[in-house]
Amino acid sequence: MTEGSLSTRLGTVVSTDSGPNVMEFSFVLEGGPREIVARRGEFVSIVTDVGTVIARVQDLVRTNRYYQHAEAVREYQSRGEPLRSIFPTDRWQYTVAKARVLGLWSNNRTVRPYFAVSPGAVVRRVDEEILASFLKLDLEEGLHLGQLAYQNLEFAPSLDRLLSKHLAILAMSGAGKSYFVSVLLEELLSRHKERGRLAVVVVDVHGEYTYLKDITSDALGFHKAKFEVEHIRASHFQIPVQMLSAEAMGALVSDMSSIQIRDLRRVLSFMQNTLKEGYTLSDIVEYLQNDEKISRNTREALSGWLINLDETGLFGKEAVPSIRNIVKPGKIALVDLSDFISLKKKQIIVSYLASELLHLRRREAIPPFLLVLEEAHQFCPESRHELALPKSRIETIAREGRKFYALLCLISQRPVKLSTTVLSQCSNQAIFRCTNPYDLDHIGKSSEGIDRSSLDTITTLEIGEALFVGETVSVPTFVKIRPRKYEPTGFIKGLSEAVKKADR
Ligand SMILES: Nc1ncnc2c1ncn2[C@@H]1O[C@H](COP(=O)(O)OP(=O)(O)OP(=O)(O)O)[C@@H](O)[C@H]1O
Ligand SMILES: [Mg+2]
Repeated sequence: MTEGSLSTRLGTVVSTDSGPNVMEFSFVLEGGPREIVARRGEFVSIVTDVGTVIARVQDLVRTNRYYQHAEAVREYQSRGEPLRSIFPTDRWQYTVAKARVLGLWSNNRTVRPYFAVSPGAVVRRVDEEILASFLKLDLEEGLHLGQLAYQNLEFAPSLDRLLSKHLAILAMSGAGKSYFVSVLLEELLSRHKERGRLAVVVVDVHGEYTYLKDITSDALGFHKAKFEVEHIRASHFQIPVQMLSAEAMGALVSDMSSIQIRDLRRVLSFMQNTLKEGYTLSDIVEYLQNDEKISRNTREALSGWLINLDETGLFGKEAVPSIRNIVKPGKIALVDLSDFISLKKKQIIVSYLASELLHLRRREAIPPFLLVLEEAHQFCPESRHELALPKSRIETIAREGRKFYALLCLISQRPVKLSTTVLSQCSNQAIFRCTNPYDLDHIGKSSEGIDRSSLDTITTLEIGEALFVGETVSVPTFVKIRPRKYEPTGFIKGLSEAVKKADR
């Protein structure tokens, strides 16, 4: 390679007390005293005989020998003469960057670094093609989600790397989680059939994705795109009673005794054998009332619980809609829970969805799917005290789903409240701004690849910026999420807009 074809020079490696060593080196930046040629977080490279060393700037230190002695500075200060009016201070100002070595790119693959770079070596901006391969991005077929935060490089991880081992999206409220999910959904919708398309089921707790049903193929840059978005109001949902075992009903009411469950099981088995077309909860109650073999007390208790369940309006003879019809490649099914205030009703729906999806996927009755779950801490909480019906189902998908591509995308603004079992099964995490120390600590403990310095940076991220950790990229990477291609209309964007509208 000639000097001309190499990337821009950033600086020169210097000797320090501890380096350069295998993992770290410092370099003096080129450019004028006030120029910023490299930024914290930026990837840099050193070309050596055996390959390109890739490193990341951890910190920048500015020094100037004229300002090293506090006494001298104080002296000139008291005379009222700035130092720079007497000495050429600017000429002596320079910046030292501390860089951490991430790997050696050699013969188109990453090798663990095994030597220290030489003092005097030239540090350069990383060649974009090399960086993309080093980070394992797939610029051609990947999902175009944004740009690297400190580099002019598109962030396009492959579908496999981002989603095949579950994804957790964590941050404080308002940091850009749901916005990122809409960008991800845009990418999934605009995927060509030949590249393989996932089926997506979104549990839309606040109804904030319903606008996707109006999305046009033009917005996604297609002319004749074949995609489908189905909006399903949870109040129209119907869970087939036939599908519920006595244990499942027991779980729904929480204090059913084992004797009561046994009696109920006998009743259900009779009904399943005689009423092949299905039955409702009130059919069960009617049958129970006349069953002399069950004690009067049990009959009364079971009937009471079943009537209460029936009043939720969530149960019926058959499944509405049929899960097989809503889970299709390239299709997004939005299960809109915004009609419900009751957390229990939301949990019943999510519980049913999770178990049906897993069951059908295991038998290959539906294609590989992604279940997007907003407010995940409400459905699979860490605390044992909070009763959450779907918890065990979601934990099962988290543990076993990846083997047959039943995949999760969990979103939470309270990571500390989210089940650690589930969180630790998410090999990929997208972490947006987060300032709560308990949440940060929990994130640090549950994701392997994250170091202290990256964790500190999470508190300073801007809205729409995220740290991707895990299998998505080879090293933790800061990303700026791209703007949406399709912007929903009619949404109120803040308090002042809301009060203006209300006052009209
Ligand atoms: N990548 C981005 N580009 C531009 N604007 C963004 C981006 N990400 C977020 N925003 C802005 O920030 C607002 C809040 O983002 P978002 O609704 O995604 O937050 P959130 O993390 O889902 O919060 P909550 O936990 O309360 O649901 C958005 O309405 C949007 O205006
Ligand atoms: Mg949100």
